[in-house]
Amino acid sequence: MESIVASASSQIDDTRHENVPRRGPPGVFVIFGGGGDLTHRLLVPALYNLASAGLLDSHFSIIVVDRADVSAADLRQSFHDSLENFVTSRGTEAVTLHDDVWKRLSDNIDYVRGAFEETATYDALARKIGNQNCIFYLAVAARFFGTIVDQLGVSGLAKESGKAFRRVIIEKPFGSDLQSAIALNERLLRTLGESQIYRIDHYLGKETVQNILALRFSNGFFEPLWNRDNIDHVQITAAETVGVEQRARFYESTGAVRDMVPNHVMQLLAMTAMEAPISFDADAVRDEKTKVLKAIHAVQHHDVVRGQYAAGSIKEQPVVGYREEPGVDPHSHTETYVAMKLMIDNWRWAGVPFYVRTGKRLAARKTEIAVHFKSAPYALFRDTPVDKLTPNIMLLHIQPTEGVTLQFSAKIPGPTVHLGGVRMKFDYSEWFHEGPSTGYETLLYDCMIGDATLFQRADNIEAGWRVVQPVLDWMHAPAGLDFYAAGSEGPKAADDLLARDHRHWLKIGS
Ligand code: BG6
Repeated sequence: MESIVASASSQIDDTRHENVPRRGPPGVFVIFGGGGDLTHRLLVPALYNLASAGLLDSHFSIIVVDRADVSAADLRQSFHDSLENFVTSRGTEAVTLHDDVWKRLSDNIDYVRGAFEETATYDALARKIGNQNCIFYLAVAARFFGTIVDQLGVSGLAKESGKAFRRVIIEKPFGSDLQSAIALNERLLRTLGESQIYRIDHYLGKETVQNILALRFSNGFFEPLWNRDNIDHVQITAAETVGVEQRARFYESTGAVRDMVPNHVMQLLAMTAMEAPISFDADAVRDEKTKVLKAIHAVQHHDVVRGQYAAGSIKEQPVVGYREEPGVDPHSHTETYVAMKLMIDNWRWAGVPFYVRTGKRLAARKTEIAVHFKSAPYALFRDTPVDKLTPNIMLLHIQPTEGVTLQFSAKIPGPTVHLGGVRMKFDYSEWFHEGPSTGYETLLYDCMIGDATLFQRADNIEAGWRVVQPVLDWMHAPAGLDFYAAGSEGPKAADDLLARDHRHWLKIGS
């Protein structure tokens, strides 16, 4: 296949103009569970990147709340150490830590030691916060979400007064099934208004995910084709090469369905399939996302494949199977892979299957959406050597490649009619210069300025769980599990799922 790279030319309107956002408001950013991995790897580096881009107010401070017996100075040092490792660049440029930026940020990091269940912790916090704006980030195990929000209510910290806002950012997992998600929403909403709750899905922090809406709705030529008249089917893949890593305890009771589908995969599907919102207002966007998720048919048992990785190799290195991983039950039935065929029951998508798959220990790390268009009529090529037409596919590359590829047919030069599949590619990093990013910068900044567009509303979360709930119900009974070798394309049953419809998955590995 030939590759044509879309390049800047004098005829193309070059839109790489600087987009300078305003500074966030003054206030306190409180991190519950601030001593943990998420804070070190993502939150502090993201706040540092925002500071470095001049987007934090001069009266911006951080308070870490945790149980460990450490001093604020120890904590600052440990943030600094991990910052040196984790402030990364998307490109090949090395990123150096700016000492002046770090000093300004770290001088304003404070520590409150205390248990999340104890009133004294919140009293100490309240004394430090006063009546400033405040964002509470719950970087804690899910079992503390309800407790912390209840305590914020009791202590008065959740109450907005005058111009000071109070917002709470909640990480996933948001519930472990539909019922628990509904219960958690109800509990949070007893203390907070919906507009104070920012439920995070880190996939929405990815530029390429945000670009799906820009691509669909800012270009006149995609939208008229984006429906059942022209699209044959859609494949959504979120493949990882990593195994369960150090998270066996969490993963054993979670599995691939809960871990990836109601949240990340459903967000990708919603962005791809939703109707155009009436504006980019947070509620307008979230209304449309929820609507499309609600239109998904109840998934049928025979349209779901659950898999688990067996021993195999990743990058030519042997790796053990899931059941041999430390901390995993040797008879575990937890799935590390799931593939599903989903049908959306609305005018735009009736009859167009959305095949989704996600798994660990697959052939490559790749998140991508492949929109397969219907073939052109073959009639014209009847009397030529062309025996079939290459399908048109639009690939939205989410990660690690970031961009868009269009696959179409072109005549192979020569005296007879032969067609070849060619690819036209837009590469994000080639076109735009991107600053260093953890993927959390936009989300944190948006919360500071009160823009909830990229966060999940209660009904959005519940609609995602509703899609997978039938699968969770079958899993109570001894459910089928198909094994696949680590480093492979996934279980054979997933290939059969598409073969049944005379289709096949795009390859994950190269
Ligand atoms: C997390 C899951 O939400 O997303 C992990 O809990 C998974 O199991 C991760 O590895 C994938 O995120 P990303 O950004 O690496 O695709």
